[in-house]
Amino acid sequence: MEREHWGSKLGLILAMAGNAVGLGNFLRFPTQAADNGGGAFMIPYMIAMLVVAIPLMWTEWAMGRYGGAKGHGTTPAIFQLLWRNPVAKYIGSLGLFVPFVVLCYYIYIESWTLGYSFFSLFGMLPHPDPNLPQDQFLKPFSQFLSDYIRPSFTAYLFFLLTVAFNAYILYRGVKGGIEKFAKLAMPTLFILALILMVRVILIETPHGTAVEGLDFLWHPDFSQLSNPKVWLAAAGQVFFTLSLGFGAIITYASYIKKDEDIVASGLSAASLNELAEVILGGSIAIPAAVAFFGVMNAKEVAGSGAFNLAFVSLPAIFSNLPGGDVIGFFWFFLLFFAGATSSVAICMPVVAFLQDEFGFSRKLAVTVTVIFTFLVAQIPIFMPKALDEMDFWAGTFFVVLFALLEVVVFFWFFGGKRAWEEINRGSLFRVPRVYYFIMKYLTPVVLFIILATWTVTTLPKVLVSGDVEAWVARFVMIFILSLQMFLVYLADRRRKNYEG
Ligand code: PHE
Repeated sequence: MEREHWGSKLGLILAMAGNAVGLGNFLRFPTQAADNGGGAFMIPYMIAMLVVAIPLMWTEWAMGRYGGAKGHGTTPAIFQLLWRNPVAKYIGSLGLFVPFVVLCYYIYIESWTLGYSFFSLFGMLPHPDPNLPQDQFLKPFSQFLSDYIRPSFTAYLFFLLTVAFNAYILYRGVKGGIEKFAKLAMPTLFILALILMVRVILIETPHGTAVEGLDFLWHPDFSQLSNPKVWLAAAGQVFFTLSLGFGAIITYASYIKKDEDIVASGLSAASLNELAEVILGGSIAIPAAVAFFGVMNAKEVAGSGAFNLAFVSLPAIFSNLPGGDVIGFFWFFLLFFAGATSSVAICMPVVAFLQDEFGFSRKLAVTVTVIFTFLVAQIPIFMPKALDEMDFWAGTFFVVLFALLEVVVFFWFFGGKRAWEEINRGSLFRVPRVYYFIMKYLTPVVLFIILATWTVTTLPKVLVSGDVEAWVARFVMIFILSLQMFLVYLADRRRKNYEG
């Protein structure tokens, strides 16, 4: 069966940018930066970008394009092609596990943004008296959120709609669905973000101004740089925002034509993500919170987490502005588009695996994947602690482990020179030579250090938490991983060592 390809270079870049630009840019980034030294956070952030993220990004694009040309879009087969070792394919099944588990909770959170778009547009969010003291003013909004995610009937309805929407895009295929949607969603998202940014900068209250908010976010606290937590947070954010270590970029890259440039296109997509993250993501939520609540209270708001900021504080702030319902709608709809272009991306590895390795038609592959996602998503929906557990393992820990495996397989087992050629083949310009050494030596060492630090500092704490919900999540994750490995085994037998 002929594999699909992206229709145009612009389409590819926008689809990849859509993959990367997500809830992480608008919610996770500002709260992480505010929590980890403000402006000083950008130093480890930039360093992580240069020595870990950019190398990994080129690695994933190259691995994907290489696999795609041989008819394989996911890591079980691609690892096997790069590294002729019987265990390669099983290690590669992490590239199915990570995106699938993340998808099962990401899509649920995405559905809140759809629900809230609807509530804002129709004026259904609370409108308390703005003269109330801060905590009483916020209360109806936090009450609304907790009633909604209990989960309510409405929350479930929007979850179903979101799943159906994702399925529809995926049914239409890579070019006719994902690419077409990205071409609509990405420009819309940038325009909405610009409108919000301008509107937020104009907010001025007796408590503060948005400019003070920018100052709060960007004012560097250098004392934070000696804290390893800040460095880990920066590395974690860079991974999450660029979708690295999730297998999602690899699968998208497998639909690139064999000799089409990846060096420049990869850099363009990553730059769009950084624009959306640092400029737009940094100029909406936190500045609005500071202008409205003042610096001291905004610190509290930022510290109470990304969800609180997005679904409690911001709707509260917007409800106070003239035309606030429409502004709120812009905010949530922006988040919905950002989330949807990412959730289809994390859905794709499993879909592509079923198509490539079992010869499923696209529709069948999507149907099976969506049904499984729907079933497993019930766990994070009904058990919030299970959601955190899944986010820690799949979304944080295995991502870094998997990224380390990718560079090692590509630059050491496949071979540094071949990997380098594979990245540069067909490129508009070649990657500067220093990157050869960075990718081969520095990136794996840094990833190893991150992983080791995590293992020592965080893992023991996570493992002793014996909560029932956490154990349910762990049990389900082990089941998913085993099932996927079994499928990898079957696929391998079927395709005779992933040849052909
Ligand atoms: N990069 C996305 C975000 O910032 C998250 C994501 C990770 C999407 C992995 C796809 C794959 O929200």
